Order: sequence, then structure tokens, then C-alpha cells
Amino acid sequence: MSEIDWKNLPFGYFKTDYNVRAYYKDGKWSDLEVRQDEYLNIHMAATCLHYGQEAFEGMKAFRGKDGKIRIFRPDENAKRLLLSANGIMMQPVPTELYIEACKKVVKLNEKFVPPYGTGASFYIRPLLIGTGAEVGVKPAKEYTFVVFGGPVGPYFKAGFKPVPMQTVKDFDRVAPLGTGLFKVGGNYAASLRASERAHEEGFSTVLFLDAKEHKYIDEAGPANFFAIKGNKYITPDSHSILRSITNMSLQQIALDLGMEVEKRPIEEAELASFDEIGACGTAAVISPISKIVDRSTGHEFVVSKDGQVGPKSTALYKQLRAIQEGEVEDIHGWNLIVD
Ligand code: PLP
Ligand code: COI
Repeated sequence: MSEIDWKNLPFGYFKTDYNVRAYYKDGKWSDLEVRQDEYLNIHMAATCLHYGQEAFEGMKAFRGKDGKIRIFRPDENAKRLLLSANGIMMQPVPTELYIEACKKVVKLNEKFVPPYGTGASFYIRPLLIGTGAEVGVKPAKEYTFVVFGGPVGPYFKAGFKPVPMQTVKDFDRVAPLGTGLFKVGGNYAASLRASERAHEEGFSTVLFLDAKEHKYIDEAGPANFFAIKGNKYITPDSHSILRSITNMSLQQIALDLGMEVEKRPIEEAELASFDEIGACGTAAVISPISKIVDRSTGHEFVVSKDGQVGPKSTALYKQLRAIQEGEVEDIHGWNLIVD
């Protein structure tokens, strides 16, 4: 293996040695299979290809100060995959199978887990797809569960630096009572046009508004949104956003740091009143937001006036990273140690 430049990794696909798979057929899940092949051989009438029966997850494993490898809250991701599977009528993956597969992928690819202190991590990508052949619109009878992973750097190129985002009123990511709370591929396909346009116009991503009224903040591309006002951590309460595990963790950390937490609808018009704003997620970690431009009116909400990250976002970021890398006690039992 040629040397990996751990400190300059992009967030992208990285070929490793192994992936693991399990198959649901005739009413039961198979044992895990370890593969080196990067390809799937599936039926051309598989429901994932035609009717979007596909859900995925994203987690990170970190090499700690003590040399141990920790996966951050995989039990929560297993629960969310269950929710997504039920949401689009797929066979759910049992939690034990999910956890075993994730541990195995990390263990087998241990040499690709970035060293402590490089800022990089090992991204784990579980995928559940309908592989049974159907032509009528109905759920498949067969499913494939695959987990692969690889070393990654920051999702937003700036890393932990404020970036500009854009709100739009001519695109919705999901419908008000649609699939926004499930981590299914169709939501991401629906976000591509708006997010590619945002990149072309110089923004990191789109801050999507609620699809019913275009009045409230939903989420920030592939991440949840949060704001800081005084000593409060405020985050949207919406039926059409993903239940971010990073966001849940930051809410707990905020409480641990003596802050208050408020979960409620946030109006776009309120943006100007916040002290700090940011996006949070597994890939994004915390990505502070410098300004938000409403594309339909041209109005600019500038929050980070000096281009610096605010003190509360910094404290939350540091504590989250410290827990993930085993620098502080894991008081909530969030890390799963891979041994
Ligand atoms: N929202 C969307 C649409 C996402 O794709 C993600 C990424 O997983 C998140 C939010 C953040 O969720 P989590 O913190 O569980 O990674
Ligand atoms: C994640 O944060 O894990 C994501 O899934 C974001 C994105 C790459 C889709």
C-alpha cells in the first residue's frame, strides 16, 4: 500500500481491502460474507434500481489517543436504518447484524483507520437495497445489506471554518409528509439540482426550507441546522428532516456544558437574530455558517461578521471530537470499541 496522506484526505470513496454483505432471502438473513470485490451483481429488475428501495447510513470510526478504535453511536444508526427500512417497506436489518457488520469492516480494514491527531477518520457506509426482481410497484422479497468504509477528511472543504449557504424557494428536498425523516437515496437525488446550483453560485450547500410554507429552516444539505443565541442551542423541530445523531449528541453536550436546548420551528426571518449558526452531521461534524443568502430575495443574513467561529460552536465541536477520540471520559457510553 502506498503511503496515505492522512492530513489531506478528501471526503470521498477510498478503496480498501474488504467489505461485508448479508442477504435476505426466503424469509431469513444470511450470515455475513466477507468480500474483496467492489461490485454487486444484481438482477436488472431489482426494486432498488426501479423504485428506489434503497436506504443507507453513515458513521465514523476514530483512532483514539490510546490507540483504540471507537465507532461513534452505531446503535443509533442501526435504529435509524430500521426506521428508513420500515419507511419504504424494506426488510429491516437486525441490530446485532448491523453492529457485527460495522465492527467487522473496521477490523478487517484496520490499516486504513487514520492515526490519532491527523483530523481524519474512517467513514463507514452501510447500504440496504431491494434486490428481488419486480416489475409491478411493490416491495421486493429479497434484500442485500452491504457495509464498506474508507478514510476520509472534512466534508466541507473549509473544515472547521465558516462557510456561506443559500436558502431557495424554487426547490424542495422532500414533501411535507414525505420521506425526509428516512435516509433514502431519493431524497439525495431530489437535492442534487439545487445543491449543484448552489456550488456554482459559490455556496457550500443549500439550507432547505420547509416544503409547505418555505418559511421555516429544515436542514443544511446533508446535515442538520443549529443556532446559538445567548446560552441556548436551538435546532429545528420538523417532520421532514433526518434525525441527526450528531445533532442529538450536540444537544446532550450543550446540556452537559450548562447550556439550554430548544427544539422548535425556526423561521428564516429569525436568522439575523442568532449569535452563531452551523450545520452538523457525521460527515460535516460541525460546519459553522458565515452567512446565508436567500436566493429568491437576495437578502443576506450575516452571522459570523469577522469570519471566525463562535465560542459556543467551538466548545461543542471540541467536546464532541474529544469524546470521539477518547480524550475525555465517555460519560454517555456513546463509543463502541473495536477490539
Ligand atoms: N441530514 C441529512 C440529510 C444527512 O444526510 C445527514 C447525514 O447523515 C444528517 C442530517 C446528519 O445526520 P447524522 O448526524 O446522523 O450523520
Ligand atoms: C453523513 O453525514 O453520514 C452523510 O450521510 C452525509 C452525506 C455524505 C450523504
